[in-house]
Amino acid sequence: MDGNGRWAKQRFLPRTAGHRAGVGSVRKAVEYCAKKGVAALTLFAFSSENWRRPAQEVSVLMELFLTTLEKETDKLHQNNVRLRVIGDRSAFSAELQARIAAAERMTEANQGLCLNIAANYGGRWDIVQAARSLAEQVAAGALQPSQIDAELFDSRTSLAGLPEPDLFIRTGGEQRISNFLLWQMAYTELYFSAALWPDFDEQELEAAIRDYASRQRRFGYTGDQVEMLSVNQGGR
Ligand code: IPE
Ligand code: MG
Repeated sequence: MDGNGRWAKQRFLPRTAGHRAGVGSVRKAVEYCAKKGVAALTLFAFSSENWRRPAQEVSVLMELFLTTLEKETDKLHQNNVRLRVIGDRSAFSAELQARIAAAERMTEANQGLCLNIAANYGGRWDIVQAARSLAEQVAAGALQPSQIDAELFDSRTSLAGLPEPDLFIRTGGEQRISNFLLWQMAYTELYFSAALWPDFDEQELEAAIRDYASRQRRFGYTGDQVEMLSVNQGGR
């Protein structure tokens, strides 16, 4: 979710007004995905590098995170959404950590959309904490290094148990991954939208999904093989 600051600047507003407006786009994206039967949506809300921003901006982002959780959790629960926060939450205030834990607990049995909020998240952090967890088990004698494979490694990452992401969308015109889901995105289709996040609505999301639907995902096969496979699977 990129472009909040520029959206505000264009309107001669403080950057934080862009973050407040961005909450509306979060709501739209979540509602759209829940309605359309998307299995999982992961939103990059705050990176481990975003602490470098001015203290006042960081504090508004934290306040928005807390108030949005307070306001929206019941509705998410009613809509069968399972909420999870991925990232190193130990840096958040005790109040915010408690809120997050309560929202996760409330929605943990829900079977609808898996909504993951990446907060104080970094793709490298995710890989490192997975490696550390395996190393600890090896050190304790509970695991042989030869048992470590991609599947076991994946089981220690933040999105373990979820399907690999099909589509990555970055708004705001920048074409980079910025330390998002580095491990998980090995075969993800990348889509870059010029829209600033507060302007990113259902039409923009549909345009991204349409673009995704026009792509051929080969996973190492040739184009002809993929066409054969899809014919054999009844065109699906
Ligand atoms: C939102 O957009 C990203 C967050 C960290 C919440 P930005 O705040 O990065 O907006 P720009 O890039 O300055 O326009
Ligand atoms: Mg930005």
